[in-house]
Amino acid sequence: MTVHSVIYPGSFDPLTNGHLSLINRALRMFDHVTVAITHNPKKTPLFSVEERVELIREAVKNDPRVEIDAFEGLLVDYARRRKEHLILRGLRAVSDFEYEFQMANMNRTLDADIETVFVMTGEDYYYISSQIVREVAALGGDVSSLVPPNVLRKLKERFAR
Ligand code: PNS
Repeated sequence: MTVHSVIYPGSFDPLTNGHLSLINRALRMFDHVTVAITHNPKKTPLFSVEERVELIREAVKNDPRVEIDAFEGLLVDYARRRKEHLILRGLRAVSDFEYEFQMANMNRTLDADIETVFVMTGEDYYYISSQIVREVAALGGDVSSLVPPNVLRKLKERFAR
């Protein structure tokens, strides 16, 4: 099977430069990337799904090859509805591995036609996570090198004292 498109799922709460770098690298391999935002029940969201969609749309500058969408329920059901066969995830540290391995295996158990591919995060983005960004921004720290400018503005607005 030849695959020209990929789903890049996540919470993106908020989008970081690490996510953006992965989207750009995916565009070198695929014609079309669907960034699929969903709620991770393990996390309390900072931004609504609508806000996250908007932030990503602005950050990718309306690139027609990037579609921003949101979904509820199982990722494999969403992929199946969209007739997509590939899920893209970024891998940072070894600590990501176990969780990603579990998810990829579970998703393959749920639907053997859907494969997960991993791309290693570039060394500049190794330490960035949305959670760290949220925490530092909430405490007034400078996250300007970690997120795109529009996300920075939104974080400042949200945590304005
Ligand atoms: O950015 P995150 O929070 O690490 O992304 C996790 C995400 C959203 C990919 C995962 O929680 C997910 O796929 N949620 C959808 C529900 C689902 O399919 N759960 C079973 C996955 S094994």
